[in-house]
Amino acid sequence: MKEKVEKLKKEILEKVEKAENLKILNDLRVEYLGKKGPISELTSHMKELSPEEKKDFGMLLNSLKQSVTEALDTKKEKFEEEELNKKLASESIDVTLPSTPIPTGSPNILEHVIEEFETVFMSMGYDVVDGPELEEDKYNFELLGLPKGHPARDAQDTFYVKDDELLLRSHTSPVQARVMLAKGGIEPVRVICPGKAYRRDDDDATHSHQFTQIEGLIVDKDIKLSDLKGTVTVICKKLFGKDTITRFRPSYYQFTEPSVEMDISCFNCKGKGCNICKNTGWITIGGAGVVHYDVLRGCGYDPEKWSGFAFGFGAERCAMLKYGINDIRTFYNTDLRETKNFDRREED
Ligand code: PHE
Repeated sequence: MKEKVEKLKKEILEKVEKAENLKILNDLRVEYLGKKGPISELTSHMKELSPEEKKDFGMLLNSLKQSVTEALDTKKEKFEEEELNKKLASESIDVTLPSTPIPTGSPNILEHVIEEFETVFMSMGYDVVDGPELEEDKYNFELLGLPKGHPARDAQDTFYVKDDELLLRSHTSPVQARVMLAKGGIEPVRVICPGKAYRRDDDDATHSHQFTQIEGLIVDKDIKLSDLKGTVTVICKKLFGKDTITRFRPSYYQFTEPSVEMDISCFNCKGKGCNICKNTGWITIGGAGVVHYDVLRGCGYDPEKWSGFAFGFGAERCAMLKYGINDIRTFYNTDLRETKNFDRREED
């Protein structure tokens, strides 16, 4: 009997040892420790034994059961631990691995330049205002000294939406008229208005039927052309570098008198002449002038008491110069690689 038990023990332990997975282990548990298993079977023979033998055999069977249970439990724990380790390993996070890039988005370079303008102007006490892009002829032309049939309208031909009266504004200057009328001729004005403008232009590297201007208007007591020059010079130094020199050339606009073109010394060659400034040493960045008497009067301000200056910067032009962009269409073709490209330049 004893030998039989020993043999059985050996057989079971060997099988447990060889078991390759939890399932086999469970099957073994059922097979050997279950009611119909060999240990139960042996137990059933107990009653045939003498009390003395019963005691010994009982101990033997108990020790067999214990050994088998222990072996099964130990192996089971081992499998469970292995499985857990495997799971942990597969789920572990390697913090040194490069992360998946998350596109964060970046402002359009034009927007960025406009914000720079706004920051500088606001620091000088200007308010930033808005005006409609779909504009009335009255504001876009009439109140600015351009009655119907005026030849200077040709240079600002635009998209007409309804007859001759409703159009896409050809410049941001109508905002001048709107702001002055809103202030009622009694309050000083100090605003800038960045915004889109439209003209009937064929698109090429330097022309776009849609573009952006940064309009500015100041109306107060005793404002002179020298104030315009001083203001624009400070702005340009802030935006294009402190060595920047400004130049004002006589020009003609119907709503300013005198009128000027605003040039800055080329920041690339510092005035010596290069391909950016077409060897002139100067770059034109917008138009400006002292607000015309008739415009002040037409918008409710008494030109004997009030005076002002106005300017219009070309935003794309400034951005192109600042970032070395050679095609205005870059701003509108929504190629994200361009935006990223400028972002990197910004970090340099
Ligand atoms: N509106 C003019 C243009 O588009 C620019 C300008 C603005 C000139 C303000 C004088 C004063 O060309």
